[in-house]
Amino acid sequence: MTNILAIETSCDETAVAIVNNRQVYSNVVASQIPIHKLYGGVVPEVASRQHLENINLVVTQALEQAQLGWDRIDAIATTCAPGLVGALLVGQTAAKTLAMIHNKSFLGIHHLEGHIYATYLGDPTLEPPFLSLLVSGGHTSLIYVKDCGVYETLGQTRDDAAGEAFDKVARLLQLGYPGGPVIDSLAKQGNPRAFKLPEGKVSLPEGGYHPYDASFSGLKTAVLRLVQKLENESSDELPLSDIAASFQETVAKGLTKRAIKCALDYGLTKIAVGGGVAANSALRHHLSEASASQDIQVIFPPLKFCTDNAAMIACAAADHFKRGHTSALNLKVRSRMHL
Ligand code: KG4
Ligand code: ZN
Repeated sequence: MTNILAIETSCDETAVAIVNNRQVYSNVVASQIPIHKLYGGVVPEVASRQHLENINLVVTQALEQAQLGWDRIDAIATTCAPGLVGALLVGQTAAKTLAMIHNKSFLGIHHLEGHIYATYLGDPTLEPPFLSLLVSGGHTSLIYVKDCGVYETLGQTRDDAAGEAFDKVARLLQLGYPGGPVIDSLAKQGNPRAFKLPEGKVSLPEGGYHPYDASFSGLKTAVLRLVQKLENESSDELPLSDIAASFQETVAKGLTKRAIKCALDYGLTKIAVGGGVAANSALRHHLSEASASQDIQVIFPPLKFCTDNAAMIACAAADHFKRGHTSALNLKVRSRMHL
């Protein structure tokens, strides 16, 4: 039985976990949201410094929670890409140092592969093939999961990620950061059909639209124009809940339509959702309803595994380690990298 300790510091969570195959022994996340909230979004330099302050304590907590000593750890994994370079460097340097000190194998894992593996933590019996819908603050992708390390990206955003769109719209409505949860709760009191907003189709040079790619920047601008129009027309307070509900409905329906079409086109009967936007109530509603009518199973892992965490990185590393894969200690971090 192989115990993997993983470190994830690609953005604003300092996370360490210990996983045995698909069983989580410990999962510690030190969130920086309260700090970045003060600035209205993630400040990369602040994130790196916070990771530096947190990392040793979070590693110790993960070992304590799992009640394991270093002698019981077989390999150390870390997120190597994509992400904020300074933030990634803290986690990767810590992982390499610990691997050298304790004489363990070292593995660098792609962050999106980790998000895919989060699904197995929620449903350990799941096996590929399935379609992964990753919707977070940094990514919006539809990935055909064929096997460990065998992925085909079928769709992605051409500009902002879905969570980024929630955050930007929340900022322009002056609702604070992160925007997703605030918009989600405000939308509950609003009318999702109050305003018609553009879904963000991606035109193809040969005509027609890309079936799986999305674009959210036009939608964000449409919300800005709507706000300006409403403010010009009347001095009444903005109908914030109607705007939030209409925006959320547009994002949720667009993501649902693309994911279902993609699954049907590729004959996939399971869709696994991951990333912070997987918490969104409208997305959950539309995706569950549409998949049921098409005999597709939709899997939402527990939210603690959807948002950034190290258990998902450890789970991916465990599968690679089982296959004899390890990384060299001169592995570099990369801000961008294809899956
Ligand atoms: O996966 P995550 O924790 O971090 C990244 O890797 O980005 O996702 C964070 C994103 C933020 O943009 C946040 O606004 C969004 O997920 N989010 C939501 C909800 N909860 C979090 N978006 C929509 N509805 C929610 N309920
Ligand atoms: Zn992530």
